[in-house]
Amino acid sequence: MSMKEKLRFADLSDQLLDWYHEQARDLPWRLGPKARAAGAVADPYRVWLAEIMLQQTTVPHATRYYLEFTKRWPKVSDLAAAADEDVMAAWAGLGYYARARNLLKCAREVTALGAWPVTADALQKLPGIGPYTAGAVAALAFGRRSAAVDGNVERVFSRLLASKGEWASEKSRIRGIVEDLVPADRPAEFAEALMDLGATICTPKSPNCLLCPLQEHCEGRVEGDPSRYPIKPKKTAKPTRQGHVFIMLDQNGRVRTERRPDKGLLGGMLGLPTSDWQDDLGVPQFPSDANWQDCGEVRHVFTHFALYLKVWRAEDQIDGQSTALEAAADALPSVFAKALNLAIRDHHTPK
Ligand code: ADE
Repeated sequence: MSMKEKLRFADLSDQLLDWYHEQARDLPWRLGPKARAAGAVADPYRVWLAEIMLQQTTVPHATRYYLEFTKRWPKVSDLAAAADEDVMAAWAGLGYYARARNLLKCAREVTALGAWPVTADALQKLPGIGPYTAGAVAALAFGRRSAAVDGNVERVFSRLLASKGEWASEKSRIRGIVEDLVPADRPAEFAEALMDLGATICTPKSPNCLLCPLQEHCEGRVEGDPSRYPIKPKKTAKPTRQGHVFIMLDQNGRVRTERRPDKGLLGGMLGLPTSDWQDDLGVPQFPSDANWQDCGEVRHVFTHFALYLKVWRAEDQIDGQSTALEAAADALPSVFAKALNLAIRDHHTPK
């Protein structure tokens, strides 16, 4: 942080923390300011679990999963001892399934170590823990003076600074500033306060500057349109892949399923039989001679491509792996759950 920025942001941490003490969100994984003041310490397992879940979804969506995981696996050693397929099924609907596999790997490593590492550097050596999560866990669970800089924090600071430079270098400048601003005595609350500010005030589309505790520091606000920041390079359009998905239902209310290979997209998750996914749809090669009916199509956007699947349904006897419909709806990743829903929506489901 430059001398100029130091002066400019001299009061920022205190103002932010004062605001947080008044406005902190009550979240199931969070030790509120009162509990912290009373000397309570956070459980690193719960802090870590919440951070991993929150990387890919919103607080309301993650809450249900967080409560379910902590009820079923209250300690890291419980999660470490769980069967892979139980954890993958419980994760279904959260997306980014490689994270669920890393979650298990990490739980097993920590259980083998006998304790969590406490510094951001050491935490970052564990599977699935990047710089953001390492900083967040070190600060929130271990009171280390670490910064937790994610896209929300970058947005807040790009507005405070009215950052116009190339985004990659602005990001690293922001990281440096946030690291310098973390107060040694309250790193956890500083990180939580920034999360809350990004989620409730300095939101992506319409920031509520009138309620912002940092408004006097904000160059973006002075300019008149803070929501134009951050200025990021344009994303290139994602390629589309296409394929067919085959929903085979039997007389016992079961659907043909398969376990996807551990490596690759949706690895280790429960899946439905599909054709290869290619640039063109191609003619369906049905897996049996049954009467295959066209049920429409589903679209799903993954990190690197959009997938368009034509959905087919048939009633047939199933040879091989099958899953009861209700269990399948819970355990399938979203793209397949959507396809299954479409196939059974307008039909009488065999009981
Ligand atoms: N976003 C990322 N981590 C979070 C947390 N611990 N609480 C609320 N929102 C978050």
